[in-house]
Amino acid sequence: MQHDTIIVLDYGSQYSQLITRRVRDANVYCELLPWDTPAAEALALNPRGIILSGGPNSVYDPGAPTLPDYVVASGLPVLGICYGMQLLSHTLGGRVAGSTEHEYGPAGLVIDDPGSPLFAGWEAPDGRAAQVWMSHGDKVQALPPGFHAVAHSGNSPFAAAADPTRDYYAVQFHPEVAHTPQGRLLLSNFVHRICGCAPDWTPANFIDEQTAAIREQVGDGRVVLGLSGGLDSAVAAALIHRAVGDQLTCIFVDTGMMRAGEPLNIVRSFQQEQGIRLIAVNAIEEYLAALAGVVDPEQKRRVIGEKFVRIFEREARALGRVEFLAQGTIYPDIIESAGKGRGEARVIKTHHNVGGLPADMDFKLVEPLRALFKDEVRRLGIALGLPDSIIWRQPFPGPGLAVRCLGEITWERLERLRRADAIFIEELGRAELLREGTQQAFAVLLPVKSVGVMGDFRTYKEVIALRAVTTEDFMTADWARLPYDVLAEASRRIVNEVEGVNRVVFDITSKPPGTIEWE
Ligand code: XMP
Repeated sequence: MQHDTIIVLDYGSQYSQLITRRVRDANVYCELLPWDTPAAEALALNPRGIILSGGPNSVYDPGAPTLPDYVVASGLPVLGICYGMQLLSHTLGGRVAGSTEHEYGPAGLVIDDPGSPLFAGWEAPDGRAAQVWMSHGDKVQALPPGFHAVAHSGNSPFAAAADPTRDYYAVQFHPEVAHTPQGRLLLSNFVHRICGCAPDWTPANFIDEQTAAIREQVGDGRVVLGLSGGLDSAVAAALIHRAVGDQLTCIFVDTGMMRAGEPLNIVRSFQQEQGIRLIAVNAIEEYLAALAGVVDPEQKRRVIGEKFVRIFEREARALGRVEFLAQGTIYPDIIESAGKGRGEARVIKTHHNVGGLPADMDFKLVEPLRALFKDEVRRLGIALGLPDSIIWRQPFPGPGLAVRCLGEITWERLERLRRADAIFIEELGRAELLREGTQQAFAVLLPVKSVGVMGDFRTYKEVIALRAVTTEDFMTADWARLPYDVLAEASRRIVNEVEGVNRVVFDITSKPPGTIEWE
């Protein structure tokens, strides 16, 4: 099925991915392309409309990104956002005023043309201006021929403009961010009312199409997939299983570095509940032996990555002839690697750890989630009936507890960490802070001992650090302002219940300068 498609040309705004996600939230398929994508490649997607993103440039900068000729020549509806608006205006004969000052923050938007389809359904509460989010330096000073003002703000006489005969629309503010509360409606108006796209990008449609596509690709061949316990590989497995059933075999390697209860949970969910063929490899001793004496964080990662590849290879070979390797690669992985050099061969996602397979294991890749953002993967997982423990699992690093067990890794120290972590997570869950209050929370075992007193005895034991962060994208993060009583209860229980720990500290470092993990 060919979906009605919108393309977003990326001019470098930090919000470009967000525009794409918002369009998809309106159930319309959307792709993000670098602004200089060759015309043939962009038009091959058969778009029904084009959105020009914001970006850091001024249209007057030497070498500033330009509007590709095909955008106007195609006759398609266009929505320019911020830099996209300035670029559209500049190219079509308007005038942009350069400015060294940056307008950043909320602004009140007054709609001058209430009949414009762009603002259909917008409400201005109590007759006041509607809130929008501005982040720009330059602004449009004179509109191109054919355009008229649709809305203004205190600082921008042309906060929104349109040439409805050509279906050209432009906004100075950012409809894609949450600080523009009615921005989703604006984007939905553009794609549905103006471009005429059908709302057919839904999990149910996706499941039907992908199961058909997987069947066609795989035929009667066999597929192997490495389950990590994370959302992406779990959803890929469930989808492929729905398509080809027992032709899929999953390999799950228990490294001993997972959190309390996780290995069992994975085996139960996939093997017993979903009936997926699953090979669960207990590799704990192998990992402990390989990690003995290793304290350097990067060395830990290397050892764990290499070990995974060797075990995966061994188990996959034991299956006999398998042509296909399935992976939970998702859209952001593809956008990121495309950004690093278009046309280059894409590297297999390294945290799936199968990038180092020997050349004679030349699998063909099955990547059914390549087009999806994380929140779409989650919605798909829900539609496929995966359990909450997988759907809402917080991100967990590939090397697992190895990078949270600072210093030397021994089974005893891993167990100590696992118990402390489980208590912390349990207390956060009890306080209903796991989904909203923090996006990632965990315990870290420090390689230092401190003195304490328990009863009448002096103790000399290890320290647990608790880490909890709030973040949107994990690129930056702040430490979560957890309630004191939750911290107090977690601390009390850890010191009382976890052998070998007599002190608990809470990490109050944001990222940057810290990272989320300690190693
Ligand atoms: P940092 O510590 O870099 O973490 O602020 C950002 C996010 O990435 C996760 N992370 C990893 N994920 N392999 C992974 O698959 C790794 O080696 C790794 N290191 C960090 C981390 O948990 C956080 O969500």
